[in-house]
Amino acid sequence: MAAGALPKKKETRPELKEVPPSRSTAPAGEPAKVIRVTAEDLAKKQREISVSEFFAKNRHLLGFDSPRKALLTAVKEAVDNSLDACEEARILPDIEVKIEVANGNPPSPVQGSATAGKLPNAQDAKRLPAEAKPQTGEGGKASVFQADRFVVTVIDNGPGIVPEQIGRIFAKLLYGSKFHRLRMSRGQQGIGISAAGLYGQLTTGKPVKVTSRFSEKKPARYVEILIDTAKNEPRVLSNKEAAWDRPGTGTRVSIELEGRYQKGRTSVDEFLEQTSVANPHARIVYVNPEGQQTVFERMVGELPAAPREIKPHPYGIELGVLLKMLRDTKSHWVGGFLASDFSRVSPKVAAEICQKAGLDSKHLVRKIHGEAAENLYRAIQQTKIMNPPTDCLSPIGEKAILAGLYKQIKGDFYTAVTRSPAVYRGNPFVIEVGLAYGTGQAAMQQSLVEEDDVLPVAEGEEKEKEGESQLARLMRFANRVPLLYQPGACAVTKAVVDTSWRNYGISQSRGALPQGPLVIFVHMASVWVPFTSESKEAVADYDEIRKEIRLALNEAGRRLSSFVRRRERAQMEFKRRNVFEAYIEEVAEACKRLKKGKLDAEDLKKRLQKIAHSITGGEKTDELVNGSKEEAAPAQESTIVVTPEGAQGAVPEAPPVPPLAGPPAPVSGQATAGERAPSAAVANDKPAKAATAGAKGKTAESKKETPRGKRKR
Ligand SMILES: Nc1ncnc2c1ncn2[C@@H]1O[C@H](COP(=O)(O)OP(=O)(O)OP(=O)(O)O)[C@@H](O)[C@H]1O
Ligand SMILES: [Mg+2]
Repeated sequence: MAAGALPKKKETRPELKEVPPSRSTAPAGEPAKVIRVTAEDLAKKQREISVSEFFAKNRHLLGFDSPRKALLTAVKEAVDNSLDACEEARILPDIEVKIEVANGNPPSPVQGSATAGKLPNAQDAKRLPAEAKPQTGEGGKASVFQADRFVVTVIDNGPGIVPEQIGRIFAKLLYGSKFHRLRMSRGQQGIGISAAGLYGQLTTGKPVKVTSRFSEKKPARYVEILIDTAKNEPRVLSNKEAAWDRPGTGTRVSIELEGRYQKGRTSVDEFLEQTSVANPHARIVYVNPEGQQTVFERMVGELPAAPREIKPHPYGIELGVLLKMLRDTKSHWVGGFLASDFSRVSPKVAAEICQKAGLDSKHLVRKIHGEAAENLYRAIQQTKIMNPPTDCLSPIGEKAILAGLYKQIKGDFYTAVTRSPAVYRGNPFVIEVGLAYGTGQAAMQQSLVEEDDVLPVAEGEEKEKEGESQLARLMRFANRVPLLYQPGACAVTKAVVDTSWRNYGISQSRGALPQGPLVIFVHMASVWVPFTSESKEAVADYDEIRKEIRLALNEAGRRLSSFVRRRERAQMEFKRRNVFEAYIEEVAEACKRLKKGKLDAEDLKKRLQKIAHSITGGEKTDELVNGSKEEAAPAQESTIVVTPEGAQGAVPEAPPVPPLAGPPAPVSGQATAGERAPSAAVANDKPAKAATAGAKGKTAESKKETPRGKRKR
């Protein structure tokens, strides 16, 4: 077991009756004795497996399979929790994410399993992607890309956590507030943050450090905790009062873990960028391991509507669940049970179900077992019941999707579609789609994840195929959380690939994503997102879900097509006009010569120019090519068109930006490894390309230089 893991309870080993000689040691000629283990022998070995032990062995199930993915997953779990907590407490999220190289752990010369422990020869170094090559930064410091241990810190302004709960939340797997309810939230399982803590403990032996203040009248509490994996219980190492130098309440979590920092696709940088697109009501400050700060500003000043908790819909439940509900209900009679424990079951519907099941409404619940329970289950399926209510969902909304895309992606055309709610297996869900498109030479700068950053590829990650960089970029989200892994297994990718983008003027090869400067945003909001695995990376392929995604894509595609086609046609006409005009001079002079100089060539030129102008679309063509105000595709409520005069349509008004709060000074008692200088200073220090954000209008400073509305082509 890795350093720092807790010693397990002493195992009682079963005594075997005979020790079998191994085949190789058995005297030649003698057959090897076969040992039969008895049921009693097995019984001695059979014991309970703690959930922590299980996940310590199977950490890949939770997204901790490679160092790169582990770093991302830890950030993701903490950020998801912070956003959930803020929204539940109706606080506009103000979140800070900081990743630092752990102190006292200088990076090895070359990091990575394949090359660990040996210096690369010239050939190896060539093959290594730029970021993995041994580098020495300022002062001979080794590059953060070679570091293998980091401290991840996430600070939020949420409601905080009461001191008694801190231990269990961060050091007990399957402990949370969201599993038993039906309401849209990012977290579902009660496993996320404690799994990140467990991974940190297994790989570095260090405890999770939490500071939280839940009341402005009380001091904050600082707790250091490890997980006792054998018992799945917290082991508190330190628990004391601490200062909290931010206004209001909040939580700060620090986890030291083995990881690998890279930029590009599926990186922490991309995760936070996409999180900001899908959560334009949040302000996120990100300090990367190089000390560079990126601010993802808040674009929407209102919180999303608070989703309401609902009861299970009868169509969604399985027989086993019904039996459990029958055992747990507080109702005495079956009619009351149906009406009070399910959504959309009125006393009248309950009576109808009972009648179909051959039961009296006043039949005692505790007497329903076996056949009666099965009859009840069948009767439920045969009764027509209204679809579940949808106020348990909080879709992002077209306006906010547009704001998120517009803020983060540079394009010429943006549109967003929010479908009305639908139902799969009794669970309500909503699909939302957004498109951002950049035309012609104004090639769209798709995000802060640059092409150069795409390599290297992390373990378990697919390498980009030749030419794939021209494919549209697909952003998948479930309950506002970006999904970065397993695109191939996801219903969203399947629906996008199945859509005929050619119908909308976008080229596409068979069975592939569309091509061109296009970003496709797809969000599924549901009380229960059917993920394909516990690590919550891909949405399962239900027909109803795929159909809804397809319909939303069709609607957005139609809007895009009218924009693309108008411009394309105008550009063709413009080219044709140029061809005519190229010959007008020649033709006019030739005519003059034919008429032996008795022709007014200038007048003829003017008349020919007029004809060329009118047969190639006249002023309309000019306006469309120049993208002038009047003639651009009509900007609708859920569309933005960018023209040289500025953006038109549903252009978001950014809420007033509060003064940039520097990261809070370290909270007393929390001497985190690798404490840095204030990040704002660091960001200004180094506006190099590596500080991608700085180069792309993401920092507060560069934002001033390129206000989006005034962008010129
Ligand atoms: N920053 C925070 N502020 C307030 N409460 C928090 C915070 N982080 C976690 N919690 C509480 O701790 C619980 C456990 O969090 P955890 O991430 O382990 O599970 P979850 O979010 O419920 O589900 P999932 O495993 O899907 O993430 C949450 O349900 C929430 O009640
Ligand atoms: Mg969580």
